[in-house]
Amino acid sequence: MTLPFVIADTPLASAVNELLAGRVEILPWDAIDGPHRERVAGLYTYGHPLVDKSLLDRLPGLRVISNYGVGVDHIRVGQAAARGIPVGNTPGILDGATADMGFALLLAAARCLIVGDRYARSPAFTRYDPGYMLGREVHGQTLGIIGLGRIGRQVAQRARGFDMPVLYHNRRRNEEAEAALGARYVPFDELLATSDFVMLTCPLTDATRGIIGREALARMKPTAILVNISRGPVVDMAALTAALTQRTIYAAALDVTDPEPLPRDHPLLALDNLVIAPHLGSATHETRQKMAEISVENLLRGLAGQPLLHEVLPG
Ligand code: NDP
Ligand code: DGY
Repeated sequence: MTLPFVIADTPLASAVNELLAGRVEILPWDAIDGPHRERVAGLYTYGHPLVDKSLLDRLPGLRVISNYGVGVDHIRVGQAAARGIPVGNTPGILDGATADMGFALLLAAARCLIVGDRYARSPAFTRYDPGYMLGREVHGQTLGIIGLGRIGRQVAQRARGFDMPVLYHNRRRNEEAEAALGARYVPFDELLATSDFVMLTCPLTDATRGIIGREALARMKPTAILVNISRGPVVDMAALTAALTQRTIYAAALDVTDPEPLPRDHPLLALDNLVIAPHLGSATHETRQKMAEISVENLLRGLAGQPLLHEVLPG
């Protein structure tokens, strides 16, 4: 039996490999220009390679694109739709893990956890000092969420346990979420000016690219902490570097950067008021297993011409 050819952004997670074994033939990403390209039926995106018109033009037999993750800013969904190619993703099942990571970053930045960890391991730590590494209070402080969707709601829910008033800003008010979570809708500028923590949980789109730039950072409190668990380009990295260096905001915590990874000599990496993680939002055994199952199911359904479990609609 000939297996359908699927080009994948490798290396694949072992759970994905196991689920695909014997069902498709995996080709590496550079097979896009290889001898089998006209027979490629599926595209499996794992990291964030750009899937645009020029790529789609090279794969005339493509029947489905499956993304291991919810964010599809790297896939030109409209161009795929114009060719009748469905795009699948994995929404809903990673919200809890990603919100947990958002809170881990928030707490780490506020309470000097990373600097403290380094110090506690170093020879410099010879004696407790009540004056060192004083951080910022978390409980009772105001959290502003930009993008109160699936993940943002989970963040808001966690904030309630910390007695934090929650503000949010979306393009549209969500009164059901307000009632369920006790969150208050405010304009973008007001959220920036009044929040002690600003958490980004919106998708990367033309409208959100660079929304946290010089002006937005200047509106934030000098004691505020920015947490980004959405996508790197939502934040202007040069503006953030300036704000953290000049300490016009207190700290930032980033799960995602632009580019990702940052160049090893990027000035942000030298700052002690930055906490940074290598895109770990959904990285738990349980969540990654579910992402593997859903993304593989999307792929196999698309190859079979069936509706996907989760299809991203253009727009
Ligand atoms: P949802 O679509 O459920 O929520 C996104 C929210 O953002 C919506 O409430 C939407 O509301 C709001 N939004 C969209 N555009 C804007 C805008 N211009 N200004 C303000 N708010 C806006 O998405 P998810 O919660 O499932 O995921 C969000 C993003 O998180 C993903 O796209 C992905 O990039 C990122 N992510 C990161 C992970 C990580 O590992 N760090 C893990 C998983 C996801 P409205 O439409 O009313 O504007
Ligand atoms: C997502 O699901 O969008 C994560 O960022 C993994 O790419």
